[in-house]
Amino acid sequence: ASSTIRCEATEASVYRETVETINLDWDNLGFGLVPTDHMYISKCSQDGIFTKGELLRYGPIELSPSSGVLNYGQGLFEGLKAYKKEDGSILLFRPHENALRMRMGAGRMCMPSPAVEQFVDAVKLTVLENKRWVPPTGKGSLYIRPLLFGSGTVLGLAPAPEYTFLIFVSPVGNYFKGGLAPINLVVENEFHRAAPGGTGGVKTIGNYASVLKAQKRAKENGYSDVLYLDSVHKKYLEEVSSCNIFVVKNKIISTPEIKGTILPGITRKSIIDVARGQGYQVEERLVSVEELLDADEVFCTGTAVVVSPVGSITYLGRKVEYKNNGIGVVSQQVYSSLTSLQMGLTEDKMGWTMKL
Ligand code: COI
Repeated sequence: ASSTIRCEATEASVYRETVETINLDWDNLGFGLVPTDHMYISKCSQDGIFTKGELLRYGPIELSPSSGVLNYGQGLFEGLKAYKKEDGSILLFRPHENALRMRMGAGRMCMPSPAVEQFVDAVKLTVLENKRWVPPTGKGSLYIRPLLFGSGTVLGLAPAPEYTFLIFVSPVGNYFKGGLAPINLVVENEFHRAAPGGTGGVKTIGNYASVLKAQKRAKENGYSDVLYLDSVHKKYLEEVSSCNIFVVKNKIISTPEIKGTILPGITRKSIIDVARGQGYQVEERLVSVEELLDADEVFCTGTAVVVSPVGSITYLGRKVEYKNNGIGVVSQQVYSSLTSLQMGLTEDKMGWTMKL
């Protein structure tokens, strides 16, 4: 009964708020949090069943100091985007893929996870409740951040007895400072992001805390981000802190294969299909760091970064600059195809978009 009352109150307040204009500089959105109206929360206890979920005002949540996530890092996140079309409708991009990836990661982290249908319905509900925050067409997107974490209390090391599935959203623009300008990466030689048998292949929160030190150092030295090598041979490309990597040579596109230490990016997978559809040969394989030295183009992919051209990579003090002062031909082509699909500007033959 209490959730019914909450929903009615929410609908009324959303109606009032949609007529209020948002005082946001849509032309200068970066990738910083803009608090929005509502968040979705559902909980699951030992029975493994998530509650129907409710929409609450966006804001701080109550969490026990002894919760599993705070003490032992039992948590996962996802990221996806919603775009506004010219006709005012909203498009989600491949939400089922995020639901499936969260289920896969939850298995690795000993957590129950919401059913695919609940995940997708919760995403839709949260976006619609916050629809006034979806940027106008061409100005950016609404970034959707689903979280799954152990909210139950633990002291000894064990899976938490209760889990929270939460979704919040924020309007965003370009991820890297400088918009679509090519980024400058440095190959990391001291730290590694993942090891075989570890959790590099799932979107657990700890994978992102552990890259901060190298990322901070790289930024202090003027780079945009860090490119990681495999931890066994220190020779093969893995990924950038927040995105996957692609290398182009003689029109052949190569990207590190998924083998447990690399995040299986949904944008990565989409770009592979888009590029193959455009007639490119795409290879998923071990890509050695030396291949960067004579590549024609390098670009990164991710939900947040979309497709980001790489202007230079520094490896063991040697800086390789790519010819594309602007953006390389292949990067430009796959970027345009993907984004026009995501924004509903071209026909979606793949059935990847979901209209709200
Ligand atoms: C995303 O691209 O959605 C991610 O999860 C990366 C994050 C560090 C912003």
